Amino acid sequence: MNRPHISINFAISADGKISSAEHCPSGWTSRADFERLKTLRESADALMVGRGTLESDRMTMNAPQKPLRCVVSSKGRFDPGHPLFASDGGPIHLLGTDHAPDEIPGTHGHHGSLAAFVETLAQEFNVKRLHCEGGGQLVRELATLDLIDEIHLTWAGHTLFGGVDAPGITGSPGDFLEASRHFELTEFTPLGNTGECFLSYRRKTG
Ligand SMILES: NC(=O)c1ccc[n+]([C@@H]2O[C@H](COP(=O)([O-])OP(=O)(O)OC[C@H]3O[C@@H](n4cnc5c(N)ncnc54)[C@H](OP(=O)(O)O)[C@@H]3O)[C@@H](O)[C@H]2O)c1
Repeated sequence: MNRPHISINFAISADGKISSAEHCPSGWTSRADFERLKTLRESADALMVGRGTLESDRMTMNAPQKPLRCVVSSKGRFDPGHPLFASDGGPIHLLGTDHAPDEIPGTHGHHGSLAAFVETLAQEFNVKRLHCEGGGQLVRELATLDLIDEIHLTWAGHTLFGGVDAPGITGSPGDFLEASRHFELTEFTPLGNTGECFLSYRRKTG
């Protein structure tokens, strides 16, 4: 499969959650976490999020090099009034897996599987590095498809969410992946007095 190198980035609580059961938009971690998010974006040819994250975090998905901005939905329904569609930035690509995405002026629509979309990004749009910022449901499928090459985490051990339904980086608690995926540590940086720590892992080969 001709596909981009795929990285993901999350902030996780001490109990491994990415948001609370009641719904917790971004903003519960330090300024340093936000700065790292921006740095990680800078090496990406394309950014990708699930529609849930786009909406809850009101994302415009920008970076200085203007990467492609990709949003994944199964239903293909998007709010044309979302700030993404009025913001400057890279070309917007909307994927609808079950239904073709709404036609929103200035966007490119795709209808098909996530695996095929990722391949299209590499083959037709020359995307070599794809950076995914969640949410858990989208990353769960990337993990199922075994497409994750790098994991970046901000370990925010200062916070516990609890919540039987609160998602982790592979989404809501549920079935095991069909096989474990293995990674090796490439960065471990405690962040002074923030109570947080940057961690990076890369796919383990061999
Ligand atoms: N801590 C962190 O670093 C972090 C990072 C990201 C997000 N979050 C949090 O996570 C929450 C949002 O998560 P979420 O559960 O809504 O997850 P999500 O993956 O962002 O969004 C779920 C929606 O995206 C679409 N989708 C996701 N995966 C898909 C797939 N494989 N195929 C087709 N469509 C797919 C579906 O859209 P349709 O319903 O349109 O079909 C689905 O309902 C927010 O609270 C956000 O703040 C936290």
